[in-house]
Amino acid sequence: MHIAHLDIRNFRNLEHIEFYPAKGLNIFTGANGSGKTSLLEAIYLLGLGRSFRSSQLASVVRGNMKSLRVVARVKQTTDAFQIVGVEFSSTGFRARINGNAVKRRSQLAAQLPLLYMSSYSHLILDGGPRYRRQWLDWGLFHLESNFRDLWWRYHRALKQRNHALRTQMPSWRREIDAWDRELATYGEQVTSFREAILSQLQESVSQLFAVLAHQVGPVTMEFKRGWSRTIALGEVLKATLDYDRAAGYTRYGPHRAEVAFYASGKDVRDILSRGQQKVFCYSLALGQVELLCKIKEQHCIFLIDDFTSELDADHRRRVLALLNQLGIQVFVTTVETLDNELKAYPDSQQFHVELGKLRKMV
Ligand SMILES: Nc1ncnc2c1ncn2[C@@H]1O[C@H](COP(=O)(O)OP(=O)(O)O)[C@@H](O)[C@H]1O
Ligand SMILES: [Mg+2]
Repeated sequence: MHIAHLDIRNFRNLEHIEFYPAKGLNIFTGANGSGKTSLLEAIYLLGLGRSFRSSQLASVVRGNMKSLRVVARVKQTTDAFQIVGVEFSSTGFRARINGNAVKRRSQLAAQLPLLYMSSYSHLILDGGPRYRRQWLDWGLFHLESNFRDLWWRYHRALKQRNHALRTQMPSWRREIDAWDRELATYGEQVTSFREAILSQLQESVSQLFAVLAHQVGPVTMEFKRGWSRTIALGEVLKATLDYDRAAGYTRYGPHRAEVAFYASGKDVRDILSRGQQKVFCYSLALGQVELLCKIKEQHCIFLIDDFTSELDADHRRRVLALLNQLGIQVFVTTVETLDNELKAYPDSQQFHVELGKLRKMV
């Protein structure tokens, strides 16, 4: 699966960009503020229906224009084509696949699975547990058709339970009992999926990290499911109800899950250098991509922002070699040109971005 043609209009400083990306590696070079990250952001919007920079899409629309639009021709492995398009204007956000309106953003993600490595890739390690939960769930969203629905039901029930915990209405206790049943059912299922995928991820990440940073020992992962291992979720919710009511939120459950990463038995944050930690984060992302390729034979699109500031030349070469092996389409931004990387990658193309305009480099 890859983007064969891309058309972006009125997206930040990009007035109108239209091009045929390479099936393999696409490199965007240009000065600060030229529009490189905006290009990745436009692709991200197409795949996830939201921006990674702004919570309000109104601020993404160029200058005083009325709407933005991103349209891609997506070629599937089967050779079939799909036209995926998103638009935002004062009337809101709209997405279409082959001209048919898309109701849920998750439908976009199913068409165009993508992984985005920002220039803060180490947030997977340094940020709060939600970054690690997002990483863990990424593969499940794409690999397990039931997972998305279970996850959504769990979070809906959680929101309602938290609301009931804070209400003074006499019916609060009855409401909690109803939501607890849902939380326990969906929560246990979400957790089983997470436990199952983690062991597969551990194996694949460990191998990838050995290739990328070969001097470091085997990787192990510890999953903390968000409540005690020895007790069922339904029981925990009952036992902690008084505390939860006083706190005004649900303290235990899969929404508090966490993953810890170890290399040679030691916490990676304690023993790896800053640079190695970034390489580790790339291994985590590539582990997901590899699993998707292996289990579902489905490809995804890999977006990397500010590649040269993230990794040194040797590690960049290794990351690209792995992405090439996986055969996926990659979009990379950098301030410097990457001629050597380009030569080593079949089916690659470099573009220069200047003041929101794109020029193909030969
Ligand atoms: N809504 C907007 N309309 C017009 N220009 C914008 C808008 N939002 C951001 N910009 C400008 O777009 C430019 C591109 O930013 P960015 O994509 O981050 O550049 P780069 O990644 O190349 O450094 C910046 O100069 C920014 O000020
Ligand atoms: Mg940028």
